[in-house]
Amino acid sequence: MPVSVATTTVDPSPEGGASRPVPGADALRPHAEEAFAAELAALAAQDDRPRPPRWKLSPWAVATYLLGGTLPDGTEISPKYVGPRRIVEVAVSTLATDRALLLLGVPGTAKTWMSEHLAAAVSGDSTLLVQGTAGTPEEAVRYGWNYARLLAHGPSRDALVPSPVMRAMADGATARVEELTRMPADVQDALITILSEKTLPIPELGQEVQAVRGFNLIATANDRDRGVNDLSSALRRRFNTVVLPLPETTEAEVEIVSRRVDQIGRSLDLPAAPGGIDEIRRVVTVFRELRDGLTSDGRTKVKSPSGTLSTAEAISVVTNGLALAAHFGDGVLRPGDVAAGVLGAVVRDPAADRVVWQEYLETVVRERDGWTDFYRACREVSA
Ligand SMILES: Nc1ncnc2c1ncn2[C@@H]1O[C@H](COP(=O)(O)OP(=O)(O)O)[C@@H](O)[C@H]1O
Ligand SMILES: [Mg+2]
Repeated sequence: MPVSVATTTVDPSPEGGASRPVPGADALRPHAEEAFAAELAALAAQDDRPRPPRWKLSPWAVATYLLGGTLPDGTEISPKYVGPRRIVEVAVSTLATDRALLLLGVPGTAKTWMSEHLAAAVSGDSTLLVQGTAGTPEEAVRYGWNYARLLAHGPSRDALVPSPVMRAMADGATARVEELTRMPADVQDALITILSEKTLPIPELGQEVQAVRGFNLIATANDRDRGVNDLSSALRRRFNTVVLPLPETTEAEVEIVSRRVDQIGRSLDLPAAPGGIDEIRRVVTVFRELRDGLTSDGRTKVKSPSGTLSTAEAISVVTNGLALAAHFGDGVLRPGDVAAGVLGAVVRDPAADRVVWQEYLETVVRERDGWTDFYRACREVSA
């Protein structure tokens, strides 16, 4: 069962794992199932399609939660993921099978975002999460021990500290593994038995935990990391891979950025900045052109900088710009509010990227109709 937190204090117990403040309105970043509780409840109430065992919603309702839509009673479901419907359908239906889901893509393509929302919609709990790093221990995937209890009473179920994956198996819920390919190969391999046999042996106790129906796992991996710790073919076979693409058009990307900036701005209590759409379009255009190595009219080749210029970077540049405009400007998002952020995102390597940026600034930005203010603002911060 998911840990239910009913009191208003953090859990101080030594064996309780991370102490966790109560979910609530004041959390800096509420989990998806808290932030969108009203939408999830409306979907559950009106969803009369069959639900796989232990799913909170039918696959159709999960897809609607992700893609947005209007329910029969008029409730608006906001789109979380903006992209091809088919991608979402394949991802959701995979979770209803015995194969796990691997979300693959370049950084900033909403892999983590989609994984969190899928877990929230399917299981009502997006917190059964393992973060993959080069230092992720096997205990993070299997189980660990509470050493005080282990020493006092010997190995027992009481002394065992289950991993998020083990808890998901026991509860028939969705586990999440972030950045799967960054974990050491032997830790990745611990997932093979879990995903193929659907059991987790505990040799110390002569026991095992069998996955309950409803258990599945969503992993994310950055395809730029490929080669760091390549997935073994045995493990890869346990997954259906869904590749998340970069937004196809400028308009689609502008929509994603505006929507997210609006949400983030509200959660940070930033006043709404009118007229922001022009600056958003500009940031998105600059990032796309530098990423593609080509201007949007297809006429001029440009060099690409070393770093990633994804939708996620555009979102953070615009959010920072809004904070500048709100606190130090006149509340209107202007070129001067985004210029420094754009420069910071583009120039990661101070030598090579600066040359790329200067060239783009002088050959593309300077010549473009209506971009004079932006050009000046960029010149000012680039000097
Ligand atoms: N297609 C998209 N639809 C909705 N949001 C997106 C999309 N692409 C990027 N984002 C936004 O970009 C941000 C970063 O995404 P994230 O999931 O952290 O990327 P990744 O894990 O792929 O590196 C999130 O706030 C997400 O809302
Ligand atoms: Mg991620």
